[in-house]
Amino acid sequence: NIVYDIKGLEDIKAKVKEILKAKDVYIVPGDADLNPYVLKEIGILASKVILSLIEDVKIIAVTGGQTVKEVVDNFPACSFKDILVVPARGGIGQEVEKQANTLAANLAKKINGSYKLLHLPDTMDEEVYNLLIKKEEIQEVLNDINSADMLVFGIGNAIEMAKRRKLSQDMIEKLKEVGAIGEIFGYYFDKAGRIVYSTTTIGIKLEKIKNIKYMIGVAGGSHKAEAILSLGEIKNNTIFVIDEGIAKKIMSLE
Ligand code: F6P
Repeated sequence: NIVYDIKGLEDIKAKVKEILKAKDVYIVPGDADLNPYVLKEIGILASKVILSLIEDVKIIAVTGGQTVKEVVDNFPACSFKDILVVPARGGIGQEVEKQANTLAANLAKKINGSYKLLHLPDTMDEEVYNLLIKKEEIQEVLNDINSADMLVFGIGNAIEMAKRRKLSQDMIEKLKEVGAIGEIFGYYFDKAGRIVYSTTTIGIKLEKIKNIKYMIGVAGGSHKAEAILSLGEIKNNTIFVIDEGIAKKIMSLE
């Protein structure tokens, strides 16, 4: 049983869990927007949460991003030889150290398990996409990804992510027009939790999310509060590991 025993945080935890209608919420002290070290704390706590569930898991899918990287970097060396780690999606839209592929391989090494990679771009023309997903070796990894029983994912601010992914200025304007607020693995959500845009991407599909036993969402920094709130019903099935900054902002927005 993991308890982050800081006075007051347990109260906040209960309130935020209720607001988000989340499966569970874990909170570390501080705000990553003010102190980047807080992200490391999120990584450490998320590793503990994952370890407490891992006996039950065969395939772990991970997304890219700095926060998931903190989870992987701070994961203790252990031995779960039967676990397969896969990237939740293709993706070269980020620096190599933060790509889902790199993080999947690194996590597999930490847990002494195995990994499979997806060497594909994050976004591509629909035509190319339709050709690629027919390839047998890609199908094989996609099947594993879509059979994952744990997904560890980062959460981003929609416009920030669109810029990071170098979407066109036109596209960014469109996202603003449709009210995109939050982003997870290529899906952009508006304030009401509706998906307003998704990148053509090879990897985990939203329809499969319901079947995933453990969804672990990690995020730090109060500027991500609205993004978390925008995630619609996905919140109900997610165990969030966040910081106090986000938690307090979520409460203030209610
Ligand atoms: O690009 C992968 C991703 O997990 C996004 O889906 C998410 O919005 C973002 O990274 C979070 O990145 P960071 O942890 O660096 O803020």
